[in-house]
Amino acid sequence: MKPQAVKGTHDILPEDIPAWRQLEQSVRTTLERAGASEIRTPVFEYTETFVKTAGESSDLVVQKEMYTFTDRGERSLTLRPEFTPGLLRAYIQHGMHVRPSPVRLYSIGPIFRAENVQRGRYRQFHQVNLETLGSADALVDAETVALLYDTLTVLGLDNLTVRLGSVGDPEDRAAYNRYLRDTLEPEADRLSETGRERLRLNPMRLLDTKDPSDRALIDPLKRPFDFLNPEAAAHFARVRELLELWNIPHELDTSIVRGLDYYRRTAFEIHHAGIGAQSALCGGGRYDGLVRSLGGPDTPGIGWAFGVERVLDALAEDSPERPALPGPLAFLVPLDAEAVTEVATTARELRRELPVGHAFVSRNPGRGLRDADRSGARYAVLRGTNERENGTFQVKNLQSGEQEDVQEAALTDYLLERTESR
Ligand code: HAM
Repeated sequence: MKPQAVKGTHDILPEDIPAWRQLEQSVRTTLERAGASEIRTPVFEYTETFVKTAGESSDLVVQKEMYTFTDRGERSLTLRPEFTPGLLRAYIQHGMHVRPSPVRLYSIGPIFRAENVQRGRYRQFHQVNLETLGSADALVDAETVALLYDTLTVLGLDNLTVRLGSVGDPEDRAAYNRYLRDTLEPEADRLSETGRERLRLNPMRLLDTKDPSDRALIDPLKRPFDFLNPEAAAHFARVRELLELWNIPHELDTSIVRGLDYYRRTAFEIHHAGIGAQSALCGGGRYDGLVRSLGGPDTPGIGWAFGVERVLDALAEDSPERPALPGPLAFLVPLDAEAVTEVATTARELRRELPVGHAFVSRNPGRGLRDADRSGARYAVLRGTNERENGTFQVKNLQSGEQEDVQEAALTDYLLERTESR
């Protein structure tokens, strides 16, 4: 049997790379125009950084979704299941709160979660993550959601639904959880096992349930939105007002619950209709209080992350044409044994300025031209006895079939002049 990648992980093959690069470049441009700087944090951190942040009742902790191991020094370490905690750890460690506020940081890279694998749900996947630290203003919430929407539409996505809600302040959440407990505990034996577990650990998560009998109990009840204190409600109203002003289409989601416990007030997701059950491209929200709980200053913050695989999947649904892998400009073909080294030497020189491929063994002209064509090059450059005697290369345009003898010393310029029209 052929060796296999670990379940839930995948290779990004050369032919996939153009789409990944295009996405990364576009995202970098959009985010950097909005004042974000890139930050690269380690792929693993002390386990407690993630546990403290996600919360004891989050999916990451309850469903044991973290890849945790003990190193030789008996320290418990975890592969990052999200960017936010490591990024906040770095913000605190490097005293970034003294920088002009708000501080806006983004990261792109692999994320690890021990989840049940299905389409759109992997164990190693990639996120683009943005955090904005230092402002509690509703304007920043709206701008952050708008920036997410713009980032995705600039990539070429249609059919996006922004679901926006507020989970309120901690007191509101506590009041809502109390309400759910008081209402549901007398009927707890009618809940599923997972439902009972949620009722015990974090009753709000019951709103996420797909179990029909749990749904029947939950659906008629009040929503977290009904428990917002007046300030949180005004904050949310302002966020919506701004999104309307900027024409960002969104739906009010009165029962938004996220799998992570740290959110306060604004929370949102963006979904795409075309990619199956795992339709959430992106999730995020405000997390005032989190920097402090990690031992930092009392800095408010808001952020989001999107799954790169899911976004690429959605892009493929919206516009199936894939960007092509760029081939070399020229492919050099040795026609005899002596030319093998000559061609390799010429390729080294040309590569200072141009992408160039070559054959590593001598070829007859027919086979050499086929190799050049398969490499994706536009020009085949042939070298044999005649060319050696004349001090030339024979250059063939593989699209038009035109052929020319070019002096050795003029080859670089000849090809350079033809790069523009690629
Ligand atoms: P999250 O909702 O857990 O939020 O993940 C964000 C996105 O990552 C999801 O919407 C989805 O596209 C993608 N994703 C999550 N799990 C998987 C998986 N197993 N396979 C493939 N894609 C997946 C966070 O991670 C928060 N840290 C976002 C945030 C940043 N909130 C504030 N700042």
